[in-house]
Amino acid sequence: MHTERVNIMSKHYEVPSTFAKKAYINEALYQKWYQQSIDEPETFWGERAKEFISWHTPFEAVKSGSFEKADMRWFIGGKLNASFNCLDRHLKDNGKKVAIIWEGDDPNETRKITYKELHELVSRFANGLKNYGIQKGDRVCIYLPMIPEVAIAMLACARIGAIHSVVFGGFSSDSLKTRILDSDCKMVITADEGIRAGKKIALKENTDAALKGCPNVKKVIVVKRTGNPIHWEKNRDIWYHEVIEGGDPQCEPEMIDSDDPLFILYTSGSTGRPKGVLHTTGGYLVYVAMTHKYIFDYHEEDIYWCTADVGWITGHSYIIYGPLANAATTVMFEGVPHYPSFSRYWEIVDKHKVNIFYTAPTAIRALRREGDLFVSKTSRKSLKLLGTVGEPINPEVWEWYYQVVGEGRCPIVDTWWQTETGGILISPLPGATALKPGSATLPFFGIEPEIVDETGKPIKTNTSGKLVIKKPWPGFMKTIYGDHQRFIDTYFKEVKGVYLTGDGAHRDEEGDYWISGRNDDVIKVSGHRLGTEEIESSLLEHPAVSEAAVVAIPHEIKGEAIYAYVSTKAEIEPSENLKQELKRQVRNSIGPIATPEEIQWTEALPKTRSGKIMRRLLRKVARNEIEDLGDVSTLSNPFVIEELIRERKKNQDIP
Ligand code: WT7
Repeated sequence: MHTERVNIMSKHYEVPSTFAKKAYINEALYQKWYQQSIDEPETFWGERAKEFISWHTPFEAVKSGSFEKADMRWFIGGKLNASFNCLDRHLKDNGKKVAIIWEGDDPNETRKITYKELHELVSRFANGLKNYGIQKGDRVCIYLPMIPEVAIAMLACARIGAIHSVVFGGFSSDSLKTRILDSDCKMVITADEGIRAGKKIALKENTDAALKGCPNVKKVIVVKRTGNPIHWEKNRDIWYHEVIEGGDPQCEPEMIDSDDPLFILYTSGSTGRPKGVLHTTGGYLVYVAMTHKYIFDYHEEDIYWCTADVGWITGHSYIIYGPLANAATTVMFEGVPHYPSFSRYWEIVDKHKVNIFYTAPTAIRALRREGDLFVSKTSRKSLKLLGTVGEPINPEVWEWYYQVVGEGRCPIVDTWWQTETGGILISPLPGATALKPGSATLPFFGIEPEIVDETGKPIKTNTSGKLVIKKPWPGFMKTIYGDHQRFIDTYFKEVKGVYLTGDGAHRDEEGDYWISGRNDDVIKVSGHRLGTEEIESSLLEHPAVSEAAVVAIPHEIKGEAIYAYVSTKAEIEPSENLKQELKRQVRNSIGPIATPEEIQWTEALPKTRSGKIMRRLLRKVARNEIEDLGDVSTLSNPFVIEELIRERKKNQDIP
């Protein structure tokens, strides 16, 4: 990676005065709390933990461990239950308050569930899980669409101390299988089908296929979403509604240690298979509740909507655990931004009077392309705050979001974080931080970012380098499930004593952070995180393929797209048909989000004399940056360069 001086003319938007008055945190308070959080982290977090969370047994110490040893723990000795914190404790004052507003794919389908109702459903389902043999510490896989039952299933697991592993409904049966096997799940909770943009997604069929290779899954609970006929294993499958009907509505929450696992969530890295990021209970809940309140400036009467899928960390932290811990009303949307029309998001905002709206840059880019009319024909008067997450947002897109969607009245919180971090680490606080389009601005309380060079040394202002975090915070993952050594090797080996994020960034003279995206072999396609190696492995599974290498290319809507180089086996003739087959191969083995945008044939991959693929060169060629290919003197097969460039020209429809 290069370290270079970056010069971005940055534009400021001061905090709107009307907003500043009502917000919890102003600039002076931010400074004061931030300083305290760094100088006296134990006092700071100890107080917040008591303020945001109800503890069954108080903790004896705030934290222990360090990044050096990769053994951080939070709120030691404390006992609590996440479902109690998201439900039971709200019943007295907020029992009748709506916890979840569900908006179906079809605009005529809406459901509102109060805290009291949610508490009863979760309790019934939790008892059902127990009846089917699920105990504290067991892993339960949840493979559901965006329906309230996904929240019920997660909270029911949490209630009895079982560890949920939610798998995104867009993943294929193979991806589901590897995730079930990796954490040895005992049960799968799924639906007959999902619905998105009017199209059905065969979740039960995928589950049946996955389970052919998973002998330890004894029970499958199936939510009836569409009612279409499905295959049924008599001794294994159970209808969700029967579990609910048969479950006792009284279920005492299991009080578990602060450091006990709450969930596993798989995410992609540079190398190898997706890893099971394990989050524990106490630190995570404190952190997501607190960030949800202050970063979104959430007030009691607000209607809050995060458009993410619950299969990703954003859904876990900011649709379910953060908002529900704060007794918020959280909107859950089953569909997509373009169905039935490109106005759908804004129609939902008007329908449910949404005040806080949190989405991904890729969605904003796609909607912006369709023109302002789809936005301007809606009211959006209820909106007061906008947020983005998942990838860098280009300043022009930020401006459109700010001016057209928010009509210049809503601050935008550009929130930077990761599956591993549990919650948001760098973001404006709406009443405290001047906004800069394209910058995630400042660290949250307790977060100490640093930009370092190749050798791990901090570098100068306005110079790009690797983003690391110097000190632990509650909310950070505990380990990679079943592979603690991989946890150490991935995050703490390259730069000692700090957490290596995998992102590139620079800090400007005002201390604001600008995150440029991944500087490892992770690709962000429409904000979805994919590893190059898993896509390459999938291509290699095809009998025609002898070698494959995958790189990211910029994409107008998706942010990044996948560009694959493939060499076929000697006897195989490359063809357009084969290209389509390979794309299908990746679709089927990982999921539609991993489909390569383009495949380029090559006789051979460029390799160094030590046999390593020169990805830097492949990236340059894919991006059409062929004027300056950099140092290629270490190539063992320099003759491939010419062929790579020649073949690249054939893919002219890719800019
Ligand atoms: C990666 C983490 C954490 C929620 C969803 C993604 C990129 C995330 C931003 C942002 C620039 C961002 C980073 C990060 N990213 N938010 N505001 N600006 N980049 O979680 O799937 O674990 O991906 O998303 O590259 O490393 P994830």
